Amino acid sequence: MDFRVASLCFALFVLASAEPVKYIDCGSQGESYAVNVTFSSAVESQTSKAVVHGVIAGVPIPFPIPDEDGCKSGIVCPIQKEKSYSYVNQLPVKHEYPSIKLVVEWELKDDSGKDLFCIEFPVQITS
Ligand SMILES: *[C@@H]1O[C@H](CO)[C@@H](O)[C@H](O)[C@H]1NC(C)=O
Repeated sequence: MDFRVASLCFALFVLASAEPVKYIDCGSQGESYAVNVTFSSAVESQTSKAVVHGVIAGVPIPFPIPDEDGCKSGIVCPIQKEKSYSYVNQLPVKHEYPSIKLVVEWELKDDSGKDLFCIEFPVQITS
């Protein structure tokens, strides 16, 4: 993981959240990772869009998820300021993926493309 990306992520996260993120069930059983991120928004936003990357050897590679609309993932939009939300989604892990360890970087972006939250967690893919 590139340190600069990590610190940027962290900085954005601190800006975006009034309270610490209580996350994540990285339960590795089954074929998907359950993600539940509780965050408190510092901004108002009509929309929210998830952007997921798998970081392999320090390089973030786009990781497609079935539904990138955060407003359909447990969040009631429009997002209001200083309200707490739980973002709930699944990271599908397909059998055809190579068997590797990687870090998943999961961001949720507001109307202006700024992070509502940004989290990272390790994933072990076994095929
Ligand atoms: C997600 O986490 C929040 C806070 O811990 C909890 O209230 C909520 O029920 C969880 N949602 C799911 C679907 O697990």
